Amino acid sequence: MRWLLLCHALCFWMKTLAHTVELNNMFGQIQSPGYPDSYPSDSEVTWNITAPEGFRIKLYFMHFNLESSYLCEYDYVKVETEDQVLATFCGRETTDTEQTPGQEVVLSPGSFMSVTFRSDFSNEERFTGFDAHYVAVDVDECTEQEDEELSCDHYCHNYIGGYYCSCRFGYILHTDNRTCRVECSDNLFTQRTGVITSPDFPNPYPKSSECLYTIELEEGFMISLQFEDIFDVEDHPEVPCPYDYIKINAGSNVFGPFCGEKIPEPINTQSHRIQILFRSDNSGENRGWRLSYKAEGNECPELRPPTHGKIEPLQTKYSFKDQVLISCDTGYKVLKDDVEMDTFQIECLKDGTWSNKIPICKMADCGIPAKLEHGLVIFSSRNNITTYKSEIRYSCQQPYYKMLHNITGIYTCSAQGAWVNEVLGRSLPTCLPVCGIPKIYRKMMARIFGGRSVQKGTIPWIAMLTQHNGQPFCGGSLIGSNWIVTAAHCLHQPLDPEEVILHDSDLLEPSDFKVILGKHWRLRSDENEQHFRVKHVFLHPLYVPSTFENDVALVELLESPKLNNFVMPICLPEGPTEEGTMVIVSGWGKQFLQRLPETLMEIELPIIGHHTCQESYVPLKKKVTSDMICAGEKEGGKDACAGDSGGPMVTMDKESGQWYLVGTVSWGDNCGKKDRYGVYSNIYHNKDWIQTVTKISN
Ligand code: ARG
Repeated sequence: MRWLLLCHALCFWMKTLAHTVELNNMFGQIQSPGYPDSYPSDSEVTWNITAPEGFRIKLYFMHFNLESSYLCEYDYVKVETEDQVLATFCGRETTDTEQTPGQEVVLSPGSFMSVTFRSDFSNEERFTGFDAHYVAVDVDECTEQEDEELSCDHYCHNYIGGYYCSCRFGYILHTDNRTCRVECSDNLFTQRTGVITSPDFPNPYPKSSECLYTIELEEGFMISLQFEDIFDVEDHPEVPCPYDYIKINAGSNVFGPFCGEKIPEPINTQSHRIQILFRSDNSGENRGWRLSYKAEGNECPELRPPTHGKIEPLQTKYSFKDQVLISCDTGYKVLKDDVEMDTFQIECLKDGTWSNKIPICKMADCGIPAKLEHGLVIFSSRNNITTYKSEIRYSCQQPYYKMLHNITGIYTCSAQGAWVNEVLGRSLPTCLPVCGIPKIYRKMMARIFGGRSVQKGTIPWIAMLTQHNGQPFCGGSLIGSNWIVTAAHCLHQPLDPEEVILHDSDLLEPSDFKVILGKHWRLRSDENEQHFRVKHVFLHPLYVPSTFENDVALVELLESPKLNNFVMPICLPEGPTEEGTMVIVSGWGKQFLQRLPETLMEIELPIIGHHTCQESYVPLKKKVTSDMICAGEKEGGKDACAGDSGGPMVTMDKESGQWYLVGTVSWGDNCGKKDRYGVYSNIYHNKDWIQTVTKISN
């Protein structure tokens, strides 16, 4: 023992200086000094092996032969890190108190390993020392990470010398390169109710995230919140919500922060615009939260439907923004500010009042029915009621007008407040003049010779065309309500009678003449006569002055005559007139012996076959064309004459008793000559043109 102590002092002296070897390779060999010869005494060598970051160092011994001593006091090989002894080896084989490396490897926890060989001053035997190898080995951080603070949140990927983290779909790697956060900062809710949850709820919410939820509603609403289901936000037993929390900003009010596991109480934010902030730190596994919100405005007073009306939707409670529609029962109309309408909408305003008062329901009223031209209207009820379901009846002024389409003329006041007929709907009926039915019948017509004075009122359609001085110059016939059919040559008066070409300057202007209806006397005035100014003159477009082809014209009166027993239109023909048909021609034209009559004259004649008539004019080289129709008798004596032009040639349909216009007086060879016939413009031939111009249906 003494000796030993001595040696301690001495040996210190004799010791070769310990030296250090720095090793930075990925692998290498270290051996005891002098290996494989026996190692020297008093020797100390340290190898500092440094591998790159992310590597560990693996050390293993191929040969080991050192002096054995209790607890390896004398010679040893010591493996250490900066602050920790990993192993101490000595001897030749492992005993209870000493260890040899054997087949074992030593692995450094980090990238640094220090190996120290030491021998003391005396060796009783010869020891060959050791031969060891080291290699840098990769650390699988993904499986070996004990420190949770460093491990990946979602996925870990190892590579030689390091590792990196990645995140599941929908997550973003936080700048700590480890946790996975979510992007949840712009969530805007504008509906009046809704549910908001932490991301991934009810699965644990993401780490390192800041979520912002905005509920934004119109002013006047107040948002209330209620947490439901699970509430689980990481907390701390002493410090209030240091890690994760949920906080609500509502105007100047702040609610929260909330964390822990206790569901917060329902919150009435008193605001129409709130922000919910949810924050999580980089650790913890908590399930989050779920809340439902609803917004309510001020309540409006209860509503009562108007009499004869309803409110939709009908509720016991209405609040801000609620709208109701007021409508009335069938036959009633909503009346608001004196205006009738089908429905009316009111809305609950933010101050809790209704935008408008409930309007009243008033029975639909069709009002005074429109006047009908040439007709009248009577009420079916006594008091001239014009409200819903009341009935009126239109009729035309009998017997001079009749209703078009033969309809009833009954109109009912509809729920919409309009007079409606089952056929015509809302449109009024049309009163058309009755044609060809004189109210005064001529006394039994005896065969007359030459002609006779007309019995007043038996030819009510006759029109007299006069100059302004009252001088009559032609006849015509009333058709429809305000049209006169006459001869074109009556309105075409060239200075040179031989003029063949039709010049506009030779035509009579509307202001050049007038039309008199209800006339009997030629020059004396009649109590029933009606005078008319002319609106327009229409000559047949194919009128030929030299041949009198299409010698027909239409005169439109400025006003419609008042129909009565002495003024009434003639009907347009429905078909051609056969040879032998008896017709009556009337006019104020010349009589035999060149005398002008005092009254309207008439004469009854038969229609002459077209061929016969044509033949009769061959000697005179005059053409009777298909637009002309002749009447007269072979022996002569019965004819129209100068001044009768344009006047009517009519026939009566025996079945209906109705009179039709067959022709208008056109030309002849003098008057009443034997073997000559009076030539008339054939109305049926030009009926289409007449109807096109006048729009008269019959
Ligand atoms: N062109 C004659 C007139 O201006 C009418 C002729 C009728 N003559 C006859 N014979 N039918 O009045």
